[in-house]
Amino acid sequence: MSKYYHITTYGCQMNVHESEKIAGILSGLGYESCENAEDADIVVFNTCCIRENAENHAFGNIGMLKKLKARKKDMIIAVGGCLTQQIGKADVLHSKFPYVDIIFGTHNLGKLKDYILKKQTRKKAVIEIEEDCGAVCEGIEPLRTSYPNAWLNITYGCNNFCTYCIVPYVRGRERSRRSEDIIKEAKYLVSLGYKEITLLGQNVNSYANGTDDISFPELLKKIAAIDGKFRIRFMTSHPKDFSEELAKVIGEERKICNLVHLPVQSGSDKILKAMNRKYTVSEYMDKIGTLRKYIPDCAVTTDIIVGFPGETEEDFLQTCELVKTAEYSSAFTFVYSRRDGTVASKMEGQIPEEVSKDRIMRLIEIVNAQTRGQSSEYVGKIVEILCEGYDEKRKLYFGRDESGKMAYFSGTADMFGEFVNVKIGLANGVSLFGEVING
Ligand code: 5AD
Ligand code: SF4
Repeated sequence: MSKYYHITTYGCQMNVHESEKIAGILSGLGYESCENAEDADIVVFNTCCIRENAENHAFGNIGMLKKLKARKKDMIIAVGGCLTQQIGKADVLHSKFPYVDIIFGTHNLGKLKDYILKKQTRKKAVIEIEEDCGAVCEGIEPLRTSYPNAWLNITYGCNNFCTYCIVPYVRGRERSRRSEDIIKEAKYLVSLGYKEITLLGQNVNSYANGTDDISFPELLKKIAAIDGKFRIRFMTSHPKDFSEELAKVIGEERKICNLVHLPVQSGSDKILKAMNRKYTVSEYMDKIGTLRKYIPDCAVTTDIIVGFPGETEEDFLQTCELVKTAEYSSAFTFVYSRRDGTVASKMEGQIPEEVSKDRIMRLIEIVNAQTRGQSSEYVGKIVEILCEGYDEKRKLYFGRDESGKMAYFSGTADMFGEFVNVKIGLANGVSLFGEVING
C-alpha cells in the first residue's frame, strides 16, 4: 500500500530547497507526495522565524492538525526549520502541541530518517535540537520541485549579526561547502537538463572566507565553464562584501544572469549603523556604480526594512530617496519584526505598528511605480525567456528573462524548460505579455 507525505514550507528559497531535501529523505523511505495533509501518513512543517508573522502562521497551521491527528493516530507530524532552533521553542512547541511526534532543529536535517524510524517504534515524541557544530550537510539527494531551475547551496549560516536578524542564532556560523562538491553537483544538474542553477547562501560573497578554497567569483567562473546552455543566478549578496572582481565576472560570463540581489535595508546612515550593516549609503551606491560600470543594464533588486527602532520620518524619507536613485527592478519590503534574542529587540525607540504600516504602504507605492515604469520600457523588445510552466488561469505559458522579469505568451508543451525568444507587446503592472518569435 502506498504511503504519502505532505510538506508545508515557510520562508525563503533556502527553506524551499531544504524541503526538497526533506522530500528526498521521505521518498527514500518509500513515501510519495500528496496535495493535502488529510491524505498524508507523514506531515512535515518546515518552519521559518525570520519575522513574527511567519512564526505565527506555522503555529496556526500546526494547531489546525489537532483534530486530524485525533482521527488518524498513526499519522506522523514532524516540525523542523528555524523556529524549532530558537532557545526554548522546542519545549513551547511540545507543550502547546503534544500530538507533534518529531521536533528537529536546523542542524539535524541529516538525521530525519533516523527520527522517523525511531518514532515508529515508540510512543514518546522524538525531540532533537543540536547546537551548531559547524557541519556541512552533504549526501542528501533532494527531490527537486522547481524544474527548470535547481537550487544549490554553497554556504550555510551567517556571521554578520545584523542587529534585527535571528538567522545567525538559528542557522549557526557561516560555513561553506567545498567547491569540488558544488561543481560536481552543478555538472550533474546540467546533465539532468536543468537550465537554471541558483546558488544559495545568506552571504554568497563571503564564500570560503578564511579557508584555502577558491573565492566566490572563481567559483562562478568554474560553474560557468560547464558545457551546455544554462543560466546561473545567486543570492544573497551582502553589499559590504560585494567586490569589483565579482562585478567583472558577472559582466564577462554570459551564463551569469545580469541580476544582483543587493539588500540595502535602509537609506539612512544612522539606521544602517544601528543595524550593524557595515556600509554607508554612499558606499552602497558606489557598489551599484561599479556593477553598472561593467554591466550597464544590470538589474538590481533589494530588501528594505521599515520601522527599525529609532527610524524617524526623516530616516524613512532617505530610504524613499535611495529607492528612487538606485533604480531597483524590484524590492522586497518588510515591516521590522522584533525577534527575541537579537540586539535590536532591546533597543529604545521601537516604532508603533501604525507608523510602520503607513511607511511601508508609501514605500510600496514608490517601488511599484518604478517597476511599472521599467516594465513599460520592455514593450517592443525581444527577450530570451526560460519557459517555467503553464498558467491555467491565463491559458498562457510563462517564464522569466535573465533579469527576473516574468513574461506570458501562448506556446506549446514542448517549450516547457526551453529558452524561447518572446517579443513583448504589452506591459501590465509587473507582468509582460508577448509572442514567441522562434520555436
Ligand atoms: N524584521 C523584518 N525583516 C527582517 N529581515 C530579516 N530580519 C528581519 C526582521 N527582524 C529581512 C531582511 C532580509 C530579509 C531576508 O528579511 O530584509 O534581507
Ligand atoms: Fe541576517 Fe544580516 Fe546574516 Fe542576512 S547578513 S542573514 S540579514 S544577519
